[in-house]
Amino acid sequence: MKPKILITGLAPQAAIDMLRQAGEVELNPDPEHPWSRKELLERVARNDFLYTNPGNRIDAEFMDANPKIKVIAQMAVGYDNIDIPAATARGIPVTHTPGVLTETTADAAWVLMMSVARRIVEADRFMRSEKATEWKPNRFMGSDIHGKTLGIIGFGRIGKAMARRARGFDMNVIYYDAIKASPTEEDALAATFRPFDDLLREADFVTIHTLYSPSTHHLIDERALSLMKRSAFLVNAARGPIVDEKALVRALQSGQIAGAALDVFEQEPLVEPELRNMENVVLVPHIGSATPETRQATGVLAAQNLIAVIEGRRPPNLINPQVWPKVD
Ligand code: GLV
Repeated sequence: MKPKILITGLAPQAAIDMLRQAGEVELNPDPEHPWSRKELLERVARNDFLYTNPGNRIDAEFMDANPKIKVIAQMAVGYDNIDIPAATARGIPVTHTPGVLTETTADAAWVLMMSVARRIVEADRFMRSEKATEWKPNRFMGSDIHGKTLGIIGFGRIGKAMARRARGFDMNVIYYDAIKASPTEEDALAATFRPFDDLLREADFVTIHTLYSPSTHHLIDERALSLMKRSAFLVNAARGPIVDEKALVRALQSGQIAGAALDVFEQEPLVEPELRNMENVVLVPHIGSATPETRQATGVLAAQNLIAVIEGRRPPNLINPQVWPKVD
């Protein structure tokens, strides 16, 4: 009998084609109308190989919809939507897609930083309005980026890609991570480790590139925001709940920080309503890795992980290796 594969949301065609070669694929024929939770769980119940994305809440209830789930192959590097301990307790391997979206996500964070610093979105809105456009020396004064201090929180693949970009802008790069980079790597990236509070006090731009987990929940809270310079900007292209969004609103309202650029939100797809009315905030809908090349690479890598499990091989990007006792 052919393995039964469920694609829970949209997937690139190349990935769908690969999965169709490997088994019988069920997917939503009308992706404009995503399945309700109930419809999704009905489909989980009849498919053992699951190809998922960050839009799905994959909790114990989801997993218990089918006691024979063989793999949850997530089409993303982040996997905070998946209850990993619940999967591990049930012996379900979970995979993700590290590496393929590093540069694209760093590009997005970089663009967000530049847009909020130089007020690009605000200026664009102005140009589209009927207002006069004659040159004025004081119009849309922004903040320089070159020569400023970039504070990177989370110095993994994407954090380091930010450090590389910062060199081209003659920025001073400081970083905080639970694991310090090696001296060789620090030298190569011209990056200096700073304790968390010091980074917040010194950075002109604080950019977040850490995974979301209980230990990073509200890492940027009222206290952290109060340490930042009043002229500083916050960029988040990692995961929404790393930032206490209500505390961020208060910090922006009171002028505690100068602005924020956000790709991710605490209660996606919802956004704190006050943020929508602030000119010094740039908001985009979780598009950090949204380029055709990167979507395709991400989709294909997720499919490779799923197919490895069908073939009895250890998937290359296993998050919970405890459930894979087999020796390849
Ligand atoms: C996207 O958000 C990802 O985690 O890949």
